[in-house]
Amino acid sequence: MEEGEVLCEAARSGDSAKIRTLIDAGTDVSYFDGEGLTPLMHAAKHGHADVVKSLLAAGAPWNALSPSNLSAGDFAIDNGHQDAFDVLLNAGIQAELVLGTIARATNKNGNSNGDYLDERVTFSEDRLTDGNSKAVMMAWEKPLMEAHAKAICSTGGHILNIGFGMGLVDMAIQHYGPTTHTIVEAHPDVYDRMLRTGWAEKDNVKIIFGRWQDVLPQLESYDGIFFDTYGEYYEDMREFHQHLPALLKPGGIYSFFNGLCGGNAFFHVVYCQLVSLELCNLGYSTQFIPLPVKDCLGEEVWEGVRHKYWQLDTYYLPVCQASLDSD
Ligand SMILES: C[S@@+](CC[C@H](N)C(=O)[O-])C[C@H]1O[C@@H](n2cnc3c(N)ncnc32)[C@H](O)[C@@H]1O
Repeated sequence: MEEGEVLCEAARSGDSAKIRTLIDAGTDVSYFDGEGLTPLMHAAKHGHADVVKSLLAAGAPWNALSPSNLSAGDFAIDNGHQDAFDVLLNAGIQAELVLGTIARATNKNGNSNGDYLDERVTFSEDRLTDGNSKAVMMAWEKPLMEAHAKAICSTGGHILNIGFGMGLVDMAIQHYGPTTHTIVEAHPDVYDRMLRTGWAEKDNVKIIFGRWQDVLPQLESYDGIFFDTYGEYYEDMREFHQHLPALLKPGGIYSFFNGLCGGNAFFHVVYCQLVSLELCNLGYSTQFIPLPVKDCLGEEVWEGVRHKYWQLDTYYLPVCQASLDSD
């Protein structure tokens, strides 16, 4: 039997001594067997937390995917192995923290929006798409946007929304009659449409055209903030979070579209934990409100869309509260 297969077999049976010997002999811990599974996936599937630890310590990739798009963490949770799941979750968070640090050190001046802001976008009744038929925003998110609006408008006052898209969250915000409602939008076509549909004439609305990164000096401080951009990365949202202490009033509510790794349940958990950890370091506590979305997401929703950006049954709506004693 090939060494990789022997390693997979030892991982399945939880034979820690054999795993140790194979690792010391240099066996490839990233091996994929005939079914496309790694030793780590086998150990996770059978709940051998110690073996999971040894394999991770030997460099096994925590984020490898099986042919059906499952990671070791998915195998652990699907089979009810909380200990193995916790070890993997911790490894995922640590790895992404390190990767984030490296990305920030090596890519200080990158412009994430790339070509998106220079390309035409297309509006239809149920979606807004970019020049590559990728969905920028879709109507199935309307109930989520209404829930976000409810969360950030719960203390009333001055509200900020970053990213207009189809205006779903902004329409919902208007129902709460905030004192002021500031909207930042960077795409010229979306901005034109905002003007054509009368958003600039609303008494309490102030539109700021530009990338949030470029218009920060025009922003004030707010009681509620929502962040939902497009064509950006986690690192951009993380950068936005560094400005929260200046933008969010004490006691204010912050929320963001939580599409983080929306194609894989385990990666999504890793990123939910990561973002709440990073927000915690800034002085904010994050609560995730579970909202079922399975029923509004039939296959027909994605017809003609190039990238299915959400594949999970539950949406976790983040509600972040600035601590009352912060300045
Ligand atoms: C996903 S949509 C927002 C959807 C919106 N929440 C809704 O309810 O319809 C993202 C929007 O953010 C805009 N956008 C992308 N990058 C931006 C940036 N850096 N600053 C401001 N707006 C940005 C896009 O043009 C797009 O209109």
